[in-house]
Amino acid sequence: MSQPALALAPTAPKKVTVATLASYKARGRSAVFLTAYDYPTAVFAERAGVEMLLVGDSAAMTVLGHPNTLGVSMEEMLIFARAVCRGAKRAFVVGDLPFLSYQASDADAVRNAGAFLIAGCDAVKCEGGARIAGRVRAMTDAGIAVMGHLGLTPQSQAQLGGYRVQGKTLAAVQRLTEDALALQEAGAFAVLLEALPAEAAAYVRERVDLLVYGIGAGPHVDGQLVISHDILGSFVGDIRPRFVRRYAELDTEIERAFRSYADDVRAGRFPGPEHLYPIEPAHEAEIRSARACHSEERSDKESALDSRVKVQTPRRYAGTTPLAPTL
Ligand code: KIV
Repeated sequence: MSQPALALAPTAPKKVTVATLASYKARGRSAVFLTAYDYPTAVFAERAGVEMLLVGDSAAMTVLGHPNTLGVSMEEMLIFARAVCRGAKRAFVVGDLPFLSYQASDADAVRNAGAFLIAGCDAVKCEGGARIAGRVRAMTDAGIAVMGHLGLTPQSQAQLGGYRVQGKTLAAVQRLTEDALALQEAGAFAVLLEALPAEAAAYVRERVDLLVYGIGAGPHVDGQLVISHDILGSFVGDIRPRFVRRYAELDTEIERAFRSYADDVRAGRFPGPEHLYPIEPAHEAEIRSARACHSEERSDKESALDSRVKVQTPRRYAGTTPLAPTL
């Protein structure tokens, strides 16, 4: 006798892990990496098949309106991280350690990186190479997956002299490679290269065993990161990196929607009949007649008050313009 077919439970989306990312690299599949700071963006990104999300300290600029990334606190980052992790069931989520959350001590680094994991992130990212290798070792020894970040590291923009392309000479690329190797030695699983010529990124990638992701680092990397506000056209500010391709113009679209809403409210077109909650006609009639009674009573009271005010106006003020309202 044939067996009844087993009813298959709906399969939960498979979580992207470091092993998944390593398998993408082995198969030459580029990972799709996007910043997210809130729940809806995480949900939309997952629906679109994005595999990696960075809760970036770029939130300081994109969401909070600071002039650079230094102004966002650990507390704020954790709010963004929790929101993103609520929306990201499948994507690999990286929490970005903000300025001063790891620079001062190993204990700070472990505690703050751990807080991102408790918030639901899969890994953390921190900026720097050999000089923070000790911190990276402290975090990886605590069982935390760490992604390094080299090249244009915005938390050190004062030292770098602003937002500048890095790795433009062989010597500079060799230093970046040494930094990447120091991160690898410290147990990092990946490194993000920002704002490098494509040849430079390829040079580094060929010399390390890390997963190598790029933002503005050309095609020879294991995955591409972009800032969601940049590709959606919703970044408010003057920075327009060369490596950004816009896929939407949300700034004009959002402004257009807000302007139309304001016009409709002012012209009495909103709310329309379709936005009103229906009610039993009998109840409606009852409420309407109660309103009519109330407004009659009110106008009676107002005219009584008016006449009293007139009577009480002191004689010496009669015929002069009052300096202030009488009541
Ligand atoms: O915070 C961020 O979005 C980043 C990218 C700019 C790399 O760190």
